[in-house]
Amino acid sequence: MPTDMNFTDLNLWTSPEHALDYLKRADKIPHRTEGERTLLEFVPAGSARILDLGSGDGRLLGLILAGGAEVEAVALDFSPPMLDRLRRRFAANSRIQVIAHDLNNPLPDLGYFDAVVSSFAIHHLVHRRKRELYAEIFAHLNSGGVFCNLEHVASSTTELHHRFLSIMNLTPEAEDPSNKLLDLDIQLHWLREIGFKQVDCHWKWRELALLAGVRS
Ligand SMILES: C[S@@+](CC[C@H](N)C(=O)[O-])C[C@H]1O[C@@H](n2cnc3c(N)ncnc32)[C@H](O)[C@@H]1O
Repeated sequence: MPTDMNFTDLNLWTSPEHALDYLKRADKIPHRTEGERTLLEFVPAGSARILDLGSGDGRLLGLILAGGAEVEAVALDFSPPMLDRLRRRFAANSRIQVIAHDLNNPLPDLGYFDAVVSSFAIHHLVHRRKRELYAEIFAHLNSGGVFCNLEHVASSTTELHHRFLSIMNLTPEAEDPSNKLLDLDIQLHWLREIGFKQVDCHWKWRELALLAGVRS
């Protein structure tokens, strides 16, 4: 297990200000739409049930639904302002269930899904919990179901990390202390160990990457 010694277990996403500050910047994250577009390619056409982990204001589910999909979905988050936005956004769609849940705890019994998706959320968990969650996701997938994680991963050097921060207009001091960035290859290896097939990184720009795997 890689060490998280460099990270505290602090998670500022419990603070409403932190969540609202993110929503102001969310559209400005460079290249994210490329990652999101690529993720959409891997959601199986005709998926009946989709789970979105750390949904935020429902941006990713909104994109999936915008494709005209008649899906049942579960949007999960633990931040009150995000949950509030999710409930308002999907109020008119009885197929979307919004669930308050802290991903530090095991996933509740939500049934089985054709796709589990997540965008820029799981890197807020300590490494051990990331791996446990990946195994729980596998257990919640139907045969043929996919896991697509558009994620913030670690750079291979401090210099590259600082370069990424500067592109994001951040200094190392201003970096979100909730981030617990982990090497991409370790996460791909975990997915294979857990039993996912067709595991790959399908898109990457600096520290932003799309990891995916299929439960056969
Ligand atoms: C960077 S935002 C991404 C939101 C959304 N997925 C998007 O792409 O815009 C991270 C999200 O993860 C949620 N999150 C962070 N830690 C969490 C935890 N332990 N349990 C549940 N949600 C968490 C936050 O509340 C926030 O909504």
